[in-house]
Amino acid sequence: MSNGHEDFPTDRPAVVTCGLPYANGDLHIGHLRTYVGGDIYARALETLGQETAFVCGSDMHGTPIAVQAEREGVDPESFALNWHEQYRETFPEFGVEFDNYGHTHDETNTELTLEFVERLEAEGYVYEKEIKVAWDPREDQPLPDRYVEGTCPYCGEQARGDECDEGCGRHLEPGEIEDPVSTLTGNPAEYRDRTHEFFRVSELSDYLSEFLDRLEGTSNARNQPREWIESGLQDWCISRDLDWGIDYPGEDDLVLYVWVDAPVEYVASTRQYSERVGADEYDWESVWKDDGEIVHVIGRDIIQHHTIFWPAMLHVADYEEPRAITASGFMTLNGMGFSTSRNRAVWAREYLEEGFHEDLLRYYLATNGGFQQDVDFSWGRFRERVNSELVGALGNFVYRSLLFAERNYDGTPDAEVSDDVRHRIESAIDDFAAAINDYSVRRAGNAAVDLSRFGNEYIQRHEPWKLADESPEEAAQVIRDCVQIAKAVAVLFEPVAPDSAERLWDQLGESGSVHEATVGDALEVPPETFGEPEELFEKIDDERVEELNERLEERTAEAEAAAETESDADAGDEVPEGEDVESEADSGAGPDLEPLADERIDFETFQSMDLRVGEILDAEPVEGADELLRLEVDIGAETRQIVAGLRQLHDVDALPGTRVVVVANLERAELFGVESNGMVLAAGDEADLLTTHGDVPPGTKVR
Ligand code: MF3
Ligand code: ZN
Repeated sequence: MSNGHEDFPTDRPAVVTCGLPYANGDLHIGHLRTYVGGDIYARALETLGQETAFVCGSDMHGTPIAVQAEREGVDPESFALNWHEQYRETFPEFGVEFDNYGHTHDETNTELTLEFVERLEAEGYVYEKEIKVAWDPREDQPLPDRYVEGTCPYCGEQARGDECDEGCGRHLEPGEIEDPVSTLTGNPAEYRDRTHEFFRVSELSDYLSEFLDRLEGTSNARNQPREWIESGLQDWCISRDLDWGIDYPGEDDLVLYVWVDAPVEYVASTRQYSERVGADEYDWESVWKDDGEIVHVIGRDIIQHHTIFWPAMLHVADYEEPRAITASGFMTLNGMGFSTSRNRAVWAREYLEEGFHEDLLRYYLATNGGFQQDVDFSWGRFRERVNSELVGALGNFVYRSLLFAERNYDGTPDAEVSDDVRHRIESAIDDFAAAINDYSVRRAGNAAVDLSRFGNEYIQRHEPWKLADESPEEAAQVIRDCVQIAKAVAVLFEPVAPDSAERLWDQLGESGSVHEATVGDALEVPPETFGEPEELFEKIDDERVEELNERLEERTAEAEAAAETESDADAGDEVPEGEDVESEADSGAGPDLEPLADERIDFETFQSMDLRVGEILDAEPVEGADELLRLEVDIGAETRQIVAGLRQLHDVDALPGTRVVVVANLERAELFGVESNGMVLAAGDEADLLTTHGDVPPGTKVR
């Protein structure tokens, strides 16, 4: 495909960007998909010989940060900076190496954003309008974006203030959401009149339609926006009633909507890169204002922002338009959605702590489905693909080839590559180039494994081990060919598995780095001598997968049990209709509380209580007692039988795996004929179980 664009590699500089992650929480492998995809694409362009910068940054503003920081009781700036630093460290651990990773709250971005806004204003594209914004009557404050939830006016699904995240995926303008409810207090929101700033996107429909006709990338990034344009574009509110963000120029109490300053970071981050390496090497201005090949890699939930709002801003401010937008599908885990709050995720950190190499995950994420498609992750499938494709096909081929070469020839046999093999490598390079021009991360990711499959067949067909005695020349030819294939495999493997490709490169005795290699190098003569190779990958055994699955299940069950008791507590907190909300808020009383104890105990008395972390292993009803459960609780040194009044309040089957706090030295008691040896701590009438937030093992003392 080339909608009027010249094929890659072109002689214009390219920039590949990834959607900026909101700096507000831990990354899991579902998040990584887009970043790994972008990284592979950027590396593949370079392998093709295209000059490319790869940039990104953290999205620091908006209600995704403000709401979360408030919940945790910290100021949004240090909250976001903290996550920003973590992301900056985490990405390279997955081989995702941005040329620059900035953030939207830095000076470069603030300055550039204000320039953009001035430009939009100077061109007459911004106007003020009085609109109705959602308002929390109890807190007496405006409720922008994620401070409010309700019903999507387009599809009827439950939605957030500015996006229909579970339904049709559309961006929602302030005031559009129906039946709005404050996420601060759970109260129905009211509407108040406020004056806001609007960008006349509606006037740009014609331009945007033409832009979409030129746009390359995945088809989902063209089809959806065409429908939105057809049904009529609205103007876009670009200001918000919020403290956290970039101040709207000339307005004291407004900040810019986060979606204005976020994409500008693509430019700002490129600029920082340029300033670091020098404009002679890479000139951000010529890329963004003149003739750059701009490729945005995003998740499909943010297509509207990248195909409507962002190109509209670029166009009016006289910047270059994106050449391509590739939008990834979602990720599921064992067929179900990832859920941060339910701990239903494989966390990025956890994956690494399990000792798996980053390239295994990169390969899986890139090739387990097309980029637009949803991709499911399961440890079982992961194992299968690693074992059959990375260990079985690629690893096996390069190991046996290089071992044979080293044993018999100390390296590359002295011969020319056969025509057959040269043609096969050439066609692998052509396929790779075609994949890049089709924006197919999957095909690019498969290139090296496909070529090594051919290598395995080739070696099998020619049986060099048999030839060695009867026809040494033929044997040398076969191995010479295999070493060349292995070298080509390294070059084509680099985008998807950069570290493993580099190890292979070293094994081939190559000097320099495979990261600098381009497709042309795949056919260059490999070094005359090299040492004994090592296996690139290790098999994952079945028991390992079982273990990983069990752990995931346990954790999910734990989080679900916790969520249940939490939602019980939430329900108890709801203010009954008709009650005087204001006075309750003023008194700060909340639900009926027992008075605080007057009498103080000394520290020693407190210490005499032996509190331990426990894990419920088993739970069953106590016969004849409606409320009682007989629990088996692992408290490290031993397993205790404890009787607890949890039966009505908890799903008995969900209890095993739950972490609790146990009073280990409470005197024994007998309840309904069953001995209880300790006590499980719980709060309130709903018996909300006390638990730990981290992963401390059972038996750990609580103090
Ligand atoms: N932080 C946004 C999100 O996670 C993405 C911002 S992408 C950019 O949905 F284009 F604004 F940079
Ligand atoms: Zn919707």
